[in-house]
Amino acid sequence: MYQFILNGKLVSVEADENLLEYLRETQRLTSLKNGCSEGSCGACMVLIDGLAMRACLQLLSRVQGKTVITVEGLTEQEKKAYTWAFAEAGAVQCGFCTPGMVISAKALLDKDPEPSAARIKEALRGNICRCTGYVKIEKAIMMAARVLRGAVAVPAEAGSGVGERVARMDAAEKVLGTGQYVDDLKVPGMLYAAVLRTPLARARILAIHTDAARTLDGVEAIMTAADIPGQRLWGHLKRDWPALIAIGEESRYIGDALAIVAAKTKKIAREAVNLIRLEYEELPPILSPQAALAADAPRLHPDGNILSRVDFSRGDVGQALATAAHVVTRSYQTPPTEHAFLEPESALAIPGDDGKITVYIGSQSVYDDHHGIAATLGLPKEKVRVISKLVGGAFGGKEDLSVQHHAALLAQKTGKPVKLTLSRQESIRVHPKRHAMEITLTTACDKDGKLVAMKARIIADTGAYASLGGPVVQRACTHVSGPYQIPAIEISGIAVYTNNPPAGAFRGFGVPQATFASEMNLNLLADLTALSPWEIRFRNALEPGAVMATGQIADDSTAIKETLLAVKAEYESAQIAGIACALKNTGLGVGVPDTGRAILRVRQGKVEILTGAACVGQGLATILRQIVCETAIVSPDLVLMHAPDTDVTPDAGTTTASRQTLFTGEAVRQAALGLAQVLKSESMAAIEGQEFAGQYRAETDPLNSDKPHPVNHVAFGYATQVVCLNETGWLRKVVAAHDVGRAINPTTVEGQIEGAIAMGLGYALQEDFPMNRGVPTAKFGTLGLFRSTDMPEIKTYLIEKNPSALAYGAKGIGEIATIPTAPAVAGAYYRYDRIFRTQLPLSNTKYSKY
Ligand code: FES
Ligand code: FES
Repeated sequence: MYQFILNGKLVSVEADENLLEYLRETQRLTSLKNGCSEGSCGACMVLIDGLAMRACLQLLSRVQGKTVITVEGLTEQEKKAYTWAFAEAGAVQCGFCTPGMVISAKALLDKDPEPSAARIKEALRGNICRCTGYVKIEKAIMMAARVLRGAVAVPAEAGSGVGERVARMDAAEKVLGTGQYVDDLKVPGMLYAAVLRTPLARARILAIHTDAARTLDGVEAIMTAADIPGQRLWGHLKRDWPALIAIGEESRYIGDALAIVAAKTKKIAREAVNLIRLEYEELPPILSPQAALAADAPRLHPDGNILSRVDFSRGDVGQALATAAHVVTRSYQTPPTEHAFLEPESALAIPGDDGKITVYIGSQSVYDDHHGIAATLGLPKEKVRVISKLVGGAFGGKEDLSVQHHAALLAQKTGKPVKLTLSRQESIRVHPKRHAMEITLTTACDKDGKLVAMKARIIADTGAYASLGGPVVQRACTHVSGPYQIPAIEISGIAVYTNNPPAGAFRGFGVPQATFASEMNLNLLADLTALSPWEIRFRNALEPGAVMATGQIADDSTAIKETLLAVKAEYESAQIAGIACALKNTGLGVGVPDTGRAILRVRQGKVEILTGAACVGQGLATILRQIVCETAIVSPDLVLMHAPDTDVTPDAGTTTASRQTLFTGEAVRQAALGLAQVLKSESMAAIEGQEFAGQYRAETDPLNSDKPHPVNHVAFGYATQVVCLNETGWLRKVVAAHDVGRAINPTTVEGQIEGAIAMGLGYALQEDFPMNRGVPTAKFGTLGLFRSTDMPEIKTYLIEKNPSALAYGAKGIGEIATIPTAPAVAGAYYRYDRIFRTQLPLSNTKYSKY
């Protein structure tokens, strides 16, 4: 028997067990999150006798006689102070880390009510946030401290319209842990699922013996490929990814699933997986594009090892290179990297009496999931409903099926609710990564530093399955020329299958890799022309009316020069600094159908926003509410947000390509215009039950279209970042100027930029994804993610000059801020030690692991 005080009450427990498991599953205190189970993320932080500690590393026997406090046990004053401060500062994004942050803050403020900024940073060192870059969390803790020591009172909420720093709608539920992520759900009779995966990246599966596992008490179902009633193969654009590997088939990467189990408890499900016996033939894995392209390489897919090719050109590159004053050619390598969203993948599938399966998920698109689940289950689409719970970060890593279809298959088979949650180690193995790329790039300029030609060859390791590898490589190719005017280009790219984990969408979608190469070549040309790195960029920067790489004409909103001017003084006054620019498309573009949709429904005197667009942490609900308030002149307390739900909310496309603020924002604006018109003559009560629909469909041209000046994308964002080092080679400051079109909510936009910069700094300096024969060897704690104490100061400038009426002129900000960071860091180190580095993460820096 163990006894301790939990949130002010004595609890007694018979058997010893893990503290996190006990608090979440038995006490149902779900403010604590399980982000890693290995003591690395801090999402499970609790106060034990006043010290912030990770519950996942504690046993009940270790808290015997102690006092344990979770966010649920904070005083009302503390709850109010932290909720206000985190909301007001913009410290909440996906929210999965937030209660853990609050606990670390409380541990500090209880001892030091007036902490320094440095002490706050130190107090958060054990808490990873992948979304915010920590800047606004640290600010929030400073603000909460002021309230808690009585220096200020909590003011009333202010602001509602476009351009205002409105506090997030979902802040309270995320700070207090009352909002639900899928793994927080528990329903009566729920079974737990576990997955048997291939033992080797490449193996021919000869037999799967499940007899012993089936006899285990508590096991309710075991399914293999032969049991799948619908389509076994899935994919966004190419159906090549098996839900389960069939007998006789080869596994193609270490995350491949062979069998799925549903059982009464998690423990039994895992035991059953361990009892399944495999027969397989070991096959040599293909671990690089070069090996996959060899003449004698085995075919990993029936149509060969090349997923896709991209080729396009403009102007006479041969002539331009022959007459150029300066020509540089370098080869660059970038690694695969892990999204490391804080919430591991989870799905809960519940079968209904009518044969309809409802699946709760936390992903980037309920409609993509709906499509994949219905196809796998062999059900008509009206027999599947997908509802989103809170999404604990995604960054592109939750676009593919990972757990949704497996949970749904088992629910269909057993007729009972089934939840499948991946462990962190499974999550790292299963979902697609950022593409590793090799880029050979030639850039040429005249004697004045004006760019005259570029030639690029990009080879991407797209791993085991297509995912979104084709479009990622296409985007790398279309963006490798950067935000510059280059009259002659010749670009080719190839995505190659290997037995590494699939590569797919990841914030920036191929552009961070390409931009690292192109910006570094520009630094060499700056040397050769004796221009400053700022000057050579400014001389070549796109202007409205200029021709872009694909022939598109840069529109009136193009503001790369403004971003360069914004950072000029800081760049030139810094002792050691690097600079880099970037552009990034908003929306899918290149002729792919792309539509944002929303409905405003008047119910019980309030306006409810219905859209299938996912908030993965970026703050979409608040932004859409601001657009409604601005357009229809409605008070913010009268506007509610409905969760994405395929039975209720219209399909607004995936949260990808930095598209939701523009696409769904414009759809909401259209709907709100309809509402505004009616409200001119009617009261809200008089229009009870009415709905107002809005839609925005972008018309774009495919790459290599016949048009001399196609519109490949409806909008581009532009950015310049400066990274400053101190005299000993540590990061000192990042200055980021972003052309955002219009900042619907400047606090939210800054939060996206700061978080993306933290990710970009990690990509530049620490993050890699080592593998041994296709098997990832990293744990969450060794991925190289930036912590609070690693972060330098960040200063942001928002440039707003978009005359477009679409979504009040907003352009996407979700991805672009992570793109120029790595080359700006590399440029800073080049200035620091004159070593020209061509590989990420950069070697020989203060941050290097090896
Ligand atoms: S779940 Fe405990 S530190 Fe990550
Ligand atoms: S808000 Fe911190 S991990 Fe998402």
